Amino acid sequence: MILKYEFPKGFWWGSAASATQTEGSSDKDGKSQNIWDYWYSNEPNRFFDGVGPQVTSDFYNRYKEDIKLMKDIGLNSFRFSISWSRLIPNGIGEVNKKAVEFYNNVVNELIDNNIEPFINLFHFDMPMILQNIGGWENREVVDAYEKYAKICFELFGDRVKKWFTFNEPIVPVEGGYLYDFHYPNVVDFKRAVQVAYNTVIAHKRAVKEFKNLNIKNGKIGIILNLTPSYSRSNNPADLKAAYIADLLFNRSFLDPVVKGEYPKDLIELLKQNNLLPEVQKDDKKLIENNKIDFIGINYYQPRRVKAKACMPNPEAPILPDNFFDNYEMPGRKMNVYRGWEIYEKGIYDIAINLKENYDNIESYISENGMGVQNEERFIKDGIIEDDYRIDFIKEHLKWLHKAIQEGCNVKGYHIWTFIDNWSWTNAYKNRYGLVQLDLKTQKRTLKKSAYWMKEVVKNNGF
Ligand code: BG6
Repeated sequence: MILKYEFPKGFWWGSAASATQTEGSSDKDGKSQNIWDYWYSNEPNRFFDGVGPQVTSDFYNRYKEDIKLMKDIGLNSFRFSISWSRLIPNGIGEVNKKAVEFYNNVVNELIDNNIEPFINLFHFDMPMILQNIGGWENREVVDAYEKYAKICFELFGDRVKKWFTFNEPIVPVEGGYLYDFHYPNVVDFKRAVQVAYNTVIAHKRAVKEFKNLNIKNGKIGIILNLTPSYSRSNNPADLKAAYIADLLFNRSFLDPVVKGEYPKDLIELLKQNNLLPEVQKDDKKLIENNKIDFIGINYYQPRRVKAKACMPNPEAPILPDNFFDNYEMPGRKMNVYRGWEIYEKGIYDIAINLKENYDNIESYISENGMGVQNEERFIKDGIIEDDYRIDFIKEHLKWLHKAIQEGCNVKGYHIWTFIDNWSWTNAYKNRYGLVQLDLKTQKRTLKKSAYWMKEVVKNNGF
């Protein structure tokens, strides 16, 4: 077969998932509540169709079945997260034996099926007991996270070689402290900056612990949603707006984790607006050192930005949107279910940016995918014919292939996600899986995209 798009040998084909979105058993076997369990119990009406995280796709009980399906499709790697509130129900202190057993089983099952486990330590799921003392605003939580990370490396590092400290750490900042889509639903830019900063400190401390342990062949990184900021035009005011959006939402994490320093312009912007976080004296050194080995990139949509059309309301709290307006480009291609623009070239632009400005650090696409509502209407002969998803993946892969041809150091592609999962407040509104989940019966059925993916993996291209 002649392949038009052939990927490098050993390319990581896989999928990604997170604990809260797939495990279920959210109050079983000693797990304590995390912010999602708590928020749902308190305000179920904030979740689509009132569906919470108690059951989800029941990975806690069905991991063997799911791993077998991954193997059938031919996937060679899988990224999942550990639930901190399951492993250490008090956030700090005693380790839950049942949780250790579960994660050991998952790791071993993956390895037995020739699927490499990638572990992520934190995917939006702060233990409630630690949120009660301020979550990421409190340095004690940073200390607790460092201990939790070390415990995970020690428990699973003999078999797991690819580690991530956080998934999209900017999202809990945006959701929890700016735009009210995660608990604790605070709207306060200064507190948001503190949360972001303390998350970077937590990340750095975990990296330091990891390096001290000298895990054989081990690599540590972070997963960032590097949403490119495109300016409406070349007008200097539009360009400046896009530059600020990029500083706030991308470079606030990308620069300290890869380069070991914050962008000077970001510090200046925060200073001018009285938003600088509290820092401690050893932080600078910690940030300068402890750089990552590789990076995961989540990419779904671009950010389009224009200069502000009018002055911000002086009565309203200051927000990042005081510095730019979002721009809806006429004629843009949309995923109308999620309300996200589809712009495949973004994946290429991110890779080129890492090549040109971040020393071509080793990277991989750790999430990319398409959530669609009411997919049952596409069922033909018993399977969902999700050609739109196949097109979505294919078009992104073409741009990724071009980036690799041009020398970008990209090692893999993970689809979000393997099986339809619980999408936070959207619950099961939009389905992302290669595998269809019947929520009532927990039956799993491969979609057309799974069969297509199987061919791609088998041929290492298409
Ligand atoms: C990423 C997250 O932001 O996008 C996932 O890492 C999330 O946890 C995915 O599910 C898709 O977004 P959503 O909000 O549609 O679930």
